[in-house]
Amino acid sequence: MNVISLAVWTLEKNCFIVYSGLIVCFIAFTLYHKNKLEEHYSENAKKEKLARTGTGGKARDFPDDGDDDPDLLVPAIPEDTPQILYRPPKRTDDEILERSREYYELMAERRTVRSFSQEPIPQEVLDNLIKTAGTSPSGAHTEPWTFVVVQDQETKTAIREIVEEEEELNYNKRMSRQWVTDLKPFATKPVKPYLSDAPALVLVFRQTHSWRDDGKKRMHYYSEISTAIAAGFLLAAIQYCGLVSLTSTPLNCNARLRELLSRPINERLELLLPVGRPHEEATVPDLHRKSLEEIMVKI
Ligand SMILES: Cc1cc2nc3c(=O)[nH]c(=O)nc-3n(C[C@H](O)[C@H](O)[C@H](O)COP(=O)(O)O)c2cc1C
Repeated sequence: MNVISLAVWTLEKNCFIVYSGLIVCFIAFTLYHKNKLEEHYSENAKKEKLARTGTGGKARDFPDDGDDDPDLLVPAIPEDTPQILYRPPKRTDDEILERSREYYELMAERRTVRSFSQEPIPQEVLDNLIKTAGTSPSGAHTEPWTFVVVQDQETKTAIREIVEEEEELNYNKRMSRQWVTDLKPFATKPVKPYLSDAPALVLVFRQTHSWRDDGKKRMHYYSEISTAIAAGFLLAAIQYCGLVSLTSTPLNCNARLRELLSRPINERLELLLPVGRPHEEATVPDLHRKSLEEIMVKI
């Protein structure tokens, strides 16, 4: 019996084992390649998503629209929006310097006040303040904000009740001991008379998204930072016109206040600002601000 005959005879004798071995090898080879292909495709998908969102982009702000046909996508603002000349007043270096100094001095006087006079504010002043906030820049001009201005005494009292109830829980259960300790210099407490004393409460809501005329969801890119900048404009306008405010962030009040004020589900409460004149006896903690050298890096 030569070598070939011996091999054929061995194969025939052990055909079950040989065929089983071949099948196992085939399955293992197929699985290995399937995994390699899946890895390849998921890497590509990740790269594509990263290219769309940029590093650190949040899925919340940049949803995956990969299933939409790119030919059918239309911008939320018309693509043929015309470009118009922009010519703000020309100012000399001296004027710019003077204005920058004046504005700094004005803003340096701003303080958070926690005790308000009940004297009312003219409606037009409130209108102008909100109009100023509305001039803020926003991601892709989405203007993702709603400013609810409450002057009605009953509603202010209802807001106060909700905030005080939640703050009681915040101080006693939700906030860390360190947090409560850090707040001691500001003499903040769950009881908040300013919410019913201040002539106006401005509740700053951030819209996470909105709806286009064609019924499609309109994404609000960078809605957090856009709304925060608008709130900054508002605080500056309040200071400029000679009123005061309290920047407050009522913890865990979003759902209840949204319901009370009949705001839609796509709006989140970011800030609650009592606005008015300071109470005659109002005091503020003697805080010091960081120096220019501490906050500015010149390169
Ligand atoms: C995002 C933010 C949240 C704040 N939340 C509260 C708050 O809930 N209650 C409060 O009394 N002050 C609050 N403040 C006010 C700060 O305590 C105050 O700005 C800080 O102590 C500096 O004081 P100044 O504003 O007088 O310069 C908040 C300020 C900011 C910017």
